[in-house]
Amino acid sequence: MNSNKRPDSMLRITTKALADQFIAEEIEKIRAEVGDKKVLLALSGGVDSSVVAALLIKAIGDQLISVHVNHGLMRKNESEDVVEVFRNQLKANLVYVDATDRFLGLLAGVSDPERKRKIIGAEFINVFADEARKLEGVEYLAQGTIYPDILESVKQAEGKKAVKSHHNVGGLPEDLNFKLVEPIKLLYKDEVRVVGEALGLPHGMVYRQPFPGPGLGVRCLGAITRDRLEALREADAILREEFEISGLSGKVWQYFIAIPDIKSVGVKDDSRYEGWPAIIRAVNTKDAMTATIEEIPYPVLHKITSRITNEVPGINRVLFDLTPKPTGTIEWE
Ligand code: XMP
Repeated sequence: MNSNKRPDSMLRITTKALADQFIAEEIEKIRAEVGDKKVLLALSGGVDSSVVAALLIKAIGDQLISVHVNHGLMRKNESEDVVEVFRNQLKANLVYVDATDRFLGLLAGVSDPERKRKIIGAEFINVFADEARKLEGVEYLAQGTIYPDILESVKQAEGKKAVKSHHNVGGLPEDLNFKLVEPIKLLYKDEVRVVGEALGLPHGMVYRQPFPGPGLGVRCLGAITRDRLEALREADAILREEFEISGLSGKVWQYFIAIPDIKSVGVKDDSRYEGWPAIIRAVNTKDAMTATIEEIPYPVLHKITSRITNEVPGINRVLFDLTPKPTGTIEWE
């Protein structure tokens, strides 16, 4: 039987009872497979890698070494939350690497989106591999592969062209020849979330909206600069906070700010104030192949605009992107 094919008989995990059963079975399988060996995991803080980490911590405790690479392109407080939940609450064996300078150094002056993606993807592997080489006796690599990833790779193997080069951890150097542990590879996203809640992960982590691997790097449009990246991070945090307060966070699939590399003339405190525009993107979709625009109540948009322009240095306008996909992709790059 092909273990990458979901059996027709497999029940959809929709309840805590089914999730508990899945967790118990996977713990047995993981223990039987890895024995007393060490397992390495790239823990991004996304739903999939977080669920795999929580599952493996239950199964093998500190034989799991999780590495969180902060590429400097995370959203506000995201890396801090990963450390808080995994190191402080779940007592994970966590290696935290702040690689901000490495990433931003390589990205300086690079404006082409696909080059930015390639640099971020390749450097992510370099940083992770550097950490892996420092560790001894690791035989396994755990990955948060889920069933749609497998279906997508099948499609790509059949020669269908991808619009953008999305990346996961893959393609590690040959000297790091790990065996793979992929405990959630037959699960769909909604099932991963049910399992995550059953494992006791915080609701915000389990229901986190999708966040691209290159992070804010593809939302700080064109060549990234530290000041514009910082403005983006702050504006995005305000958007998320206001969506949370107004109850939109549970209704909109993905929402974020993008900031282009242009400035316009504005006025503040009776003086000329040149600043960047912050662009709000808020979309709904089933599979991210097409997307529609969510109607956001004007009072919410006014409040977000007022907060961003008053609280975030460098931003003097807020725009709302009305473009569905197609023709706009969800991200701007
Ligand atoms: P687009 O912009 O292609 O986005 O309409 C569709 C979905 O994919 C996410 N996205 C990425 N995810 N690496 C990722 O892991 C990437 O390079 C990347 N680019 C886009 C995007 O956030 C949306 O959910």
